[in-house]
Amino acid sequence: MEYTTLGKTGLKVSVAGLGCGGPSRLGMRNDPQSANHAVGLVKQGLDLGINFLDTAQTYGTEPIVGRAIGGVPRDRLVISTKKTLPLEDNPDPENEVSKGLEQSLKLLGTDYIDVYHLHGVEPKDYGFAKERLLPVMRRLKEQGKIRFIGVTEGFVPDPSHQMLQSSLAEDVWDVVMVGFNMLNPSARKTILSATMEKGVGVLNMFAVRRALSQPRRLQSLCAELIASKAIDSDGLNPSDPLGFVLQMSDAATLPEAAYRFCRHQPGIHVVLTGTGNPEHLRENVAAILKPALPKAVLRKLDHLFGRLDSLSGN
Ligand SMILES: NC(=O)c1ccc[n+]([C@@H]2O[C@H](COP(=O)([O-])OP(=O)(O)OC[C@H]3O[C@@H](n4cnc5c(N)ncnc54)[C@H](OP(=O)(O)O)[C@@H]3O)[C@@H](O)[C@H]2O)c1
Repeated sequence: MEYTTLGKTGLKVSVAGLGCGGPSRLGMRNDPQSANHAVGLVKQGLDLGINFLDTAQTYGTEPIVGRAIGGVPRDRLVISTKKTLPLEDNPDPENEVSKGLEQSLKLLGTDYIDVYHLHGVEPKDYGFAKERLLPVMRRLKEQGKIRFIGVTEGFVPDPSHQMLQSSLAEDVWDVVMVGFNMLNPSARKTILSATMEKGVGVLNMFAVRRALSQPRRLQSLCAELIASKAIDSDGLNPSDPLGFVLQMSDAATLPEAAYRFCRHQPGIHVVLTGTGNPEHLRENVAAILKPALPKAVLRKLDHLFGRLDSLSGN
């Protein structure tokens, strides 16, 4: 494994992080009975050198992470979890954040969270999150229950990063989680230049998701992009739109190429990989540790998708 520093937090983190949510939720979305399998996946990740584990109140995987890390020295782990925004009609949203944190601590079996985020904040809710909830998180940080404060975007409803752009206009967040992939690299310009300047830690989600792991989804997404003239169809094979990535590189699969694409993007510290499949986890960590894709591939990807900011690749 390779390790890096998560921006100004100073945390030493593995460049591959285990995402315990996403479409797989460690295999528990399709099979909620598979807790033992999920615990095994987290342990496998730790054996592969991963020290960054990302979960959330809503994923149902906090207890899984808690079981898997039992007995591991706490200072070898960087635990990231998240609080969903309380509903607008909640009479006491501040208290709900404090209660959520206490519950996460209990389920994870720890007395502090390394990075505690507000989860999937949409642009319309950013003001509420900052004015009402951030002060609570700051108090919890002062009490030592949180080491660093983060915010994650909802990449599906907000693929042009409006919320994160607002959040980076001020110096209040230690870490952000951003959607970035071969099909929508727009964070490069709108987010990563600012995070690098300010030293904000960056976690990358949606490196692969569905479009880059399911050929039919990719075909239909590219067909829509061509039909709407969002991308240039010249030289693109509609039945295998990203075939050129494998033909022009040594990547064996598209998910491998997609994780490598993210790993070598300056400004990204941790590339999250989410899976329920132990073989995928092994392959994905290996992919994240491989060299960058050839420049000719990156140029062609940039020509095709470099200006897109309207899709997530889900
Ligand atoms: N707003 C937020 O805060 C937010 C939103 C989304 C995600 N996240 C976090 O980011 C993490 C990463 O996102 P993600 O889980 O969507 O990640 P991802 O790693 O981009 O994609 C995961 C999907 O790709 C498939 N996949 C993974 N490796 C594969 C391989 N080698 N071959 C074929 N298919 C493969 C998985 O299916 P298999 O199970 O079959 O491998 C799963 O469907 C999440 O787990 C979560 O922790 C946060």
